[in-house]
Amino acid sequence: PIYIATVSAPTNIACIKYWGKADAHYNTPTNDSVSVTLDQADLKAVTTVAASASFTNDRLWLNGVEEDVSQNKRFRACIDGVKALAKEPERWKDLFVHVSSYNTFPTAAGLASSAAGYAALVAALAELMDAQEEYVGQLSTIARQGSGSACRSLYGGFVAWKQGTAAGNKSPWDNSMAVQIATEQHWPEIRALILVVSDAKKDTSSTAGMSTSVATSTLLQHRIKSVVPERMEAIEKAFLAKDFEAFGQLTMKDSNSFHAVCMDTYPPIFYMNDISRMVVRIVHAYNAWAGDIRAAYTFDAGPNAVLYTLEQYAVEIGALMLHYFPADSENYINRSDYANEVAA
Ligand code: DP6
Repeated sequence: PIYIATVSAPTNIACIKYWGKADAHYNTPTNDSVSVTLDQADLKAVTTVAASASFTNDRLWLNGVEEDVSQNKRFRACIDGVKALAKEPERWKDLFVHVSSYNTFPTAAGLASSAAGYAALVAALAELMDAQEEYVGQLSTIARQGSGSACRSLYGGFVAWKQGTAAGNKSPWDNSMAVQIATEQHWPEIRALILVVSDAKKDTSSTAGMSTSVATSTLLQHRIKSVVPERMEAIEKAFLAKDFEAFGQLTMKDSNSFHAVCMDTYPPIFYMNDISRMVVRIVHAYNAWAGDIRAAYTFDAGPNAVLYTLEQYAVEIGALMLHYFPADSENYINRSDYANEVAA
């Protein structure tokens, strides 16, 4: 027989960024981070895993194209990690798996596709093998080894990734895991607008970029010690109180801090481009005009902007962006939806 499970996982967009590895082997971070998990309906990975005694090796297809995973340690860590938690480990131990994963968004666009992908992989394997967590969050420690940001996509709402310590309870770093701060029901009015500035593949991968930053940036050390801890506390408080002003300001400041670290890296890394910086200026001008923080930008390892806002301002901000970037309809995901709403 062939055993099959299909699971989808949404991507997440960090408000306080993960940038820097404490331990490359276990893929643990140099600081805590926190993100909003997007809706299942939007940017997600859909992953099917199959296991059978007739399979002769582990295989992976991404958007229909087979990848060579023979040397892929991240993929290996996820499969072995979940197998170890299977309810009946003997049953799965010697079976190989075939994995097929689709993105509902451009893989190359730097829109945290690895986060959704590895979260869906771990969740699908866990479903297939009826994995039993020994403690809450254990599956997220496995997803983390696929891609750090993936651990946060195992939960909805507002999710922190706790850095953990090198002395876990069972194995080193088994406490570097995702913790849900608030569920998706807590603040249903929050919205994320995705502005695709470029869908070209990023030129410095997160993994490579953060390793150079750890090796060369003195600003990163300051960020780790003196900036992130207070910000984590403040933003969790702001999210729980649904204080958009504080939430938005902390999100923008942390994006800027992360990109300043990239600039302080030697040689410097530039993820934002002229369009990204225009978006920053428009958002500040808009907030100044409103006399309030209604929109907050954040940028990951690429030029694309994510704007956090509240439901009541989402159409207005969509219209504002269309006003400044009218020529390139590809700049907007769901652009037609916003255009229709604006027209109405
Ligand atoms: C800027 O999770 O892609 O998006 O663990 O090496 O796979 P690896 O890195 P990854 O890095 C994400 C960096 C970020 C910030 C964030 O999501 O917190």
